[in-house]
Amino acid sequence: MTQIRNFCIIAHIDHGKSTLADRLLERTGTISEREMQEQILDDMDLERERGITIKSHAIRMEYVRPNKEKFIFNLIDTPGHVDFAYEVSRALKACEGAILVVDAAQGVEAQTISNLYQAIEQGLEIIPVLNKIDLPGADPENISQQVIDLIGCEYEDILRVSGKTGEGVEDLLEAIVERIPAPKQEIDKPLKALIFDSIFNTYRGSIAYVRVMQGSLKKGDPMLFMATHKEYDAEEIGYLKLKKEPCTELKAGDVGYVIGSVKSLQDARVGDTITHQKNGADEPIPGYQESKPMVFSGIFPTNSEDFEDLRSALEKLQLNDASLSYQPETSKALGFGFRAGFLGMLHMEIVQERLDREFNIDIITTVPNVQYEVEINHKGERRKKTVDNPSEMPDAGKVETVWEPYIKASIITPADYIGPIMKLCQDKRGVYKNQVFMQGNRVEITYELPMAEVVFDFYDKLKSGTRGYASLDYELLEYRKGDLVRLDILLNGDPVDALSSITHREKAYEQGRKICAKLKELIPRQQYEVAVQAAIGSRVIARDTIRALRKDVTAKCYGGDITRKRKLIEKQKEGKKRMKQVGTVEIPQEAFLAVLSMD
Ligand code: GTP
Repeated sequence: MTQIRNFCIIAHIDHGKSTLADRLLERTGTISEREMQEQILDDMDLERERGITIKSHAIRMEYVRPNKEKFIFNLIDTPGHVDFAYEVSRALKACEGAILVVDAAQGVEAQTISNLYQAIEQGLEIIPVLNKIDLPGADPENISQQVIDLIGCEYEDILRVSGKTGEGVEDLLEAIVERIPAPKQEIDKPLKALIFDSIFNTYRGSIAYVRVMQGSLKKGDPMLFMATHKEYDAEEIGYLKLKKEPCTELKAGDVGYVIGSVKSLQDARVGDTITHQKNGADEPIPGYQESKPMVFSGIFPTNSEDFEDLRSALEKLQLNDASLSYQPETSKALGFGFRAGFLGMLHMEIVQERLDREFNIDIITTVPNVQYEVEINHKGERRKKTVDNPSEMPDAGKVETVWEPYIKASIITPADYIGPIMKLCQDKRGVYKNQVFMQGNRVEITYELPMAEVVFDFYDKLKSGTRGYASLDYELLEYRKGDLVRLDILLNGDPVDALSSITHREKAYEQGRKICAKLKELIPRQQYEVAVQAAIGSRVIARDTIRALRKDVTAKCYGGDITRKRKLIEKQKEGKKRMKQVGTVEIPQEAFLAVLSMD
């Protein structure tokens, strides 16, 4: 029987996971140097540009030991960002071992720890690896001590490699064979195959990436997807080499792909278990979760004629991304559009960028917000509702109680920055929990924070306040009561629904004042004076005025030269891109995100 090793590489962002994976592919002859493109596993353009791995992938390698013993390695790549934590957990479940990569110059960071804890929870064998030992700033001795403190391993257990020069990669290949256990090969049990990733192909439908945990799946077998109760035949199955390589059977321990004319990713969800329709497994693999949106934002076409195009673009994106959700929304200010739900801020940015790039649709997005639970007093009767759109938050007088999501944030930082970080967390309504000192003058600080405050600009402020040295990881805790109100913005007395936000009552005045000032700066002068007001219910709490334009621009053209006049008008039109006419006022896209760019 072939010997198999299933493993993943876990690391903090930029610690060199993809580069190291490239070296493994090269040394096992999975790809030749000619085929070698930098970071071959990051195959989406956007991923490459941002230098982050968004979707997990898997690849099969054949490793021949110096003693000629042959092994199959399945490397399962995991996304590195906190938004995609669930995908990480599923990918880990498909493995018996994990290579924990730590940058030998930077040391342990927030995602190193959170990924490691997840891997330990799944019972994986951990191979600690210091990467980038070629760097002049590498400090392997100190960083080794950090790793020892973290996982309690022996000094000798820690490998030292360089993904750049390839140093130490042979030792790593041997360690994979020696330390990571072989998968259980329980072929006689009923089939259980875990979907740890899926992608959508226009011609073939969803392609599920699976790890067979027990039993075996043959080509043509009738399959049952246990969470969605969908039934399909396994039309094609195979291994995931650089290209897909069809085979006739995937057995317990194997990693591969399954194609079954599955119409959408909604039917073949990450985390679901595939079994046989007849004599299938009784229980799915535990831990399945529906992906739950955490951050919401309105998406509107700049030109209302583009509404149908936007709808079809979102439909297409959703085929590729089962964690994107959306529903139609009508805004008085922005017209017809959609309210979309995302896993987190990064996920939101990716979707917005793809709409722009791949579908070429000009969109206006509104300020992101979280989901609230609200209890209202309706003529003496109490009712609960979920609010994911600030403009739907009932007036302050009707609201009995509002609950908002809290997160537990772990921040790792050089000790010099403890002060600024605590101030930031305090400003963001954080509740201090504890701090733990680590080797090398570093500290892990834990706070509980309202998620809404983190969604805003927390991460940027954390980075700029620590010169980029602090790293953040978070997990959802629970919903807690908060004294929250809806802050409305009025232009010339008319509320603009898309500019409403939800804020803590104590911060409302300051927030209102700042938004008004920012809008004054962002909204171009109009023919008339425009009053900008912030209000809670009917009470105006801040005000600014955008003064009227003094002269018509074309007045400068002496009335005579018609071509010049036309040029000016053309120029003005270009400048109008991404402007939205709201009542009599033209508002640029940036204004809808004013709250985000305030100090
Ligand atoms: P994510 O996909 O965002 O999680 O990043 P990653 O962990 O895959 O990191 P990646 O492989 O993209 O490497 C990050 C940066 O470090 C790149 O600029 C690499 O060229 C560089 N790098 C990776 N490994 C080494 C190494 O061993 N030595 C040196 N000097 N640089 C390295």
